[in-house]
Amino acid sequence: MPISRRDFLAVGTSAICLAAATASSTALAGPPRSRRLRIAHLTDIHLQPELQAARGLATCFAHVQSRPAVASEGMVGDVIDTSPPDLIITGGDTIMDAFEADRARTKLQWELWRKVKADHCGIEMHSVVGNHDVWGWDRAKAGTTGTEPLYGKRWVCDEFGRELPYTSFDRGGWHIVLLDSIFPHEQTYIGRLDDAQWDWLERDLAAVDPATPVIIFSHIPILSATPLAVAGPSTPGASGIAVPGGRIHVDGDRFQTLLAGRRNVKACASGHMHLVEQLDFQGVRYLCNGAVSAGWWKGRNRDTDFGYAVVDLFDDGTVERRYVSYGWTAAT
Ligand SMILES: [Fe+2]
Repeated sequence: MPISRRDFLAVGTSAICLAAATASSTALAGPPRSRRLRIAHLTDIHLQPELQAARGLATCFAHVQSRPAVASEGMVGDVIDTSPPDLIITGGDTIMDAFEADRARTKLQWELWRKVKADHCGIEMHSVVGNHDVWGWDRAKAGTTGTEPLYGKRWVCDEFGRELPYTSFDRGGWHIVLLDSIFPHEQTYIGRLDDAQWDWLERDLAAVDPATPVIIFSHIPILSATPLAVAGPSTPGASGIAVPGGRIHVDGDRFQTLLAGRRNVKACASGHMHLVEQLDFQGVRYLCNGAVSAGWWKGRNRDTDFGYAVVDLFDDGTVERRYVSYGWTAAT
């Protein structure tokens, strides 16, 4: 949300007091942490020609690039930090749906994505694959055979300019991993890595200096309480609740084993649930980062507004996240 000059001055006075208080404690506690990277995590955009979604996404890109006010408590001189992000990471479900869509509808949505991005986004972008980005796995509805050259993840990988649906890179002293959570299961999908990606991930993390902090982005949460919040009985009248494997990684236990041996992995950020959550578990911060489309552009999803996450990565390996509403309301 934009802040007024009066509000800024009021906050600025507080900032001076906080700076003075913090400065005196800093002499005892050592230098304050320093932010190394700011990421705007735009997940679950679900871009479509309907519901003014393209205008909504353009509004979101404008907000991201207009130096959104983000409070960072406890930072000297940085109480109101309006720095724009260093890069954007999109969290999957870029387009409304290709999973059940025919070729023409999928092509229309990707063309719209390319146009809105070209016209309204001037920040470096990296992208995660979501289940709705995968073309034609529901063959009956999509009219696919499975033999099309662009079938499955080939199309979305081409759109993202990558050979593989997963990748990693270094920026700002951090190692950033983008995983592919989407694995076929019967007629649909579940959240997991296949053997090839597990092998790649273990080798990728092993090659990172243990002093270098790591953040992992996936579409489906690796660990989250949000599937429990929306779960119901496994069968009518059952006493337990069921969490489908499409809502959370089913190989979470293997992740816990891996991360226990890689203490430099500091955070895992996801989308998929269209809910906002922070869960700290065994030294790792798990962030579920809402949705640009909220409830698929029709309104809030439960309490989650149309928004995106500002994720700040610090030199001491800490991670802070703020969920930012960009001022969009559902088209009427
Ligand atoms: Fe989604």
